[in-house]
Amino acid sequence: MQKTFLMVKPDGVQRQLIGEIVSRFERKGLHLAGAKLMTISPELAQQHYGEHKGKPFFEGLVEFITSGPVFAMVWQGENVIEISRQMMGKTNPKDALPGTIRGDYGVIVGKNIIHGSDSPESAEREINLFFNQEELVEYNKSMNEWIY
Ligand code: GTP
Ligand code: MG
Repeated sequence: MQKTFLMVKPDGVQRQLIGEIVSRFERKGLHLAGAKLMTISPELAQQHYGEHKGKPFFEGLVEFITSGPVFAMVWQGENVIEISRQMMGKTNPKDALPGTIRGDYGVIVGKNIIHGSDSPESAEREINLFFNQEELVEYNKSMNEWIY
């Protein structure tokens, strides 16, 4: 089953949105494979957002993502990468539709509540950056036969 890396950013944690966000993915029928509250080091932030190095917002992005704890998660499910990106909404909350996480809770692009991997390649890279294999839990949920 496909896996993705999702993360409640420091603004989402401070705004007490962890439960709300986890709840949305649970109710959708996605499957939680791992989760932890952690603070990102500047080194990890630079690696995670490496594709944006050199862009004008890069320094601010690294400063923001290391400014407080984040809630890092791995979720799995069929097409979970695409589904979770749809549920997050557009990068800039001003363009994100109501009903999406960024559309419902964010206002500016620099504080957009949640991160999600954007392709199978980034998902694999980001899961390995943030989680050890033993932190990912494999288990069956009987509810799955009502989802698939
Ligand atoms: P992530 O899930 O956080 O990776 O967002 P994304 O995939 O929707 O967008 P992208 O990877 O292009 O950008 C990464 C993050 O950089 C965004 O979530 C924003 O917080 C920030 N960002 C992107 N573009 C801009 C910009 O033009 N200005 C500012 N200030 N921040 C930006
Ligand atoms: Mg991105």
